[in-house]
Amino acid sequence: MKILAIDTSCDDTAIAVLEIRNLKLEILSNVVSSQVKLHAKYGGVYPMLAKREHLKNLPLVFKRALRQAQGKLSDIDYVAVTVGPGLEPCLWQGINFAKELSEKLKKPLISVNHIEGHILANLIEGNRIPLKLPAICLVVSGGHTQLILMKGIGKYRLVGETRDDAAGECFDKAARILGLGYPGGPIISKLAKTYRERVSVCLPRPMMYTKDYDFSFSGLKTAVLYKTKEFKKINSKIKTEFCHEIQQAIIDVLIKKTIKAAKDFRVKSIILGGGVTANRELRKQFGERINKEIPDTKYLIPDTKYSTDNAAMIAVAAYFHRNKKVKNFQNIKANGNLSL
Ligand code: KG4
Ligand code: ZN
Repeated sequence: MKILAIDTSCDDTAIAVLEIRNLKLEILSNVVSSQVKLHAKYGGVYPMLAKREHLKNLPLVFKRALRQAQGKLSDIDYVAVTVGPGLEPCLWQGINFAKELSEKLKKPLISVNHIEGHILANLIEGNRIPLKLPAICLVVSGGHTQLILMKGIGKYRLVGETRDDAAGECFDKAARILGLGYPGGPIISKLAKTYRERVSVCLPRPMMYTKDYDFSFSGLKTAVLYKTKEFKKINSKIKTEFCHEIQQAIIDVLIKKTIKAAKDFRVKSIILGGGVTANRELRKQFGERINKEIPDTKYLIPDTKYSTDNAAMIAVAAYFHRNKKVKNFQNIKANGNLSL
């Protein structure tokens, strides 16, 4: 069985082909066309520009994905598409493309939740099926920071989320304050690596010790802004220190709350997903802390190429929901705030 999946939820145009043979998943192609350079000058994603780019990129990315999969159109058994959450003008581009394709091929269309895609990205590689459940999933991206209790595929309960900015958004906004460019996460993590000694940058860990499972990152961004004003000039050494401290503050809060949730709900696995989990330091520190505090808990994190937005994860989610095919195309709509 082959599934062709499309994701245009934000600023990446992504198409992948997944093959399932004897219950084994194999990604035949995973093409992502990034618009980062285009949006960099605005310091963030400009939705109408992203929409136009998706329209232009979709046919090209589609051709590349098919070519890489060495497949013919007639080999495709299902078409899958992200319907939310995300930027609605962008989501619609993917949906319209998927509808047309599904009609042309006379193959069923499956709608997918982007957040579930980030969670199930963990099933792409390695021998991870069956999952050890229940699990606590932390999804950390540019738009979301959520802790989700997972009892099965399709069985999710949101237990906590950010009350303001997402963790990725905090990386992006802090980088903008420091004049580092967009997207902030990879730039901050690269600079943080060159940090050597603390001089005077100390930032808060918002909501780290609250009893709930919620987060808040807008105060951290504001703290960065105020702290930068204390310096006459931000030289490269201070910039590096800021990067290290911003990254560490975000990691500290994410680890603390995730492990708290894992203990409170007595889960068997911790599952991470979303663009921020591409962060090397976060990956390492999560592993160390889980090993130290709850060593019997399984720790799943996707390969970095499946952490950031991609369509392979959408194909995998579609595979597990293939029985929920869309019967009427009128019912498939973009929903920017779709919940799990
Ligand atoms: O999941 P994703 O690709 O798109 C959304 O669904 O939002 O996540 C994008 C976010 C951006 O905020 C970006 O700065 C962050 O993920 N990100 C990182 C890293 N790579 C991407 N954050 C920290 N460290 C990274 N290495
Ligand atoms: Zn995402």
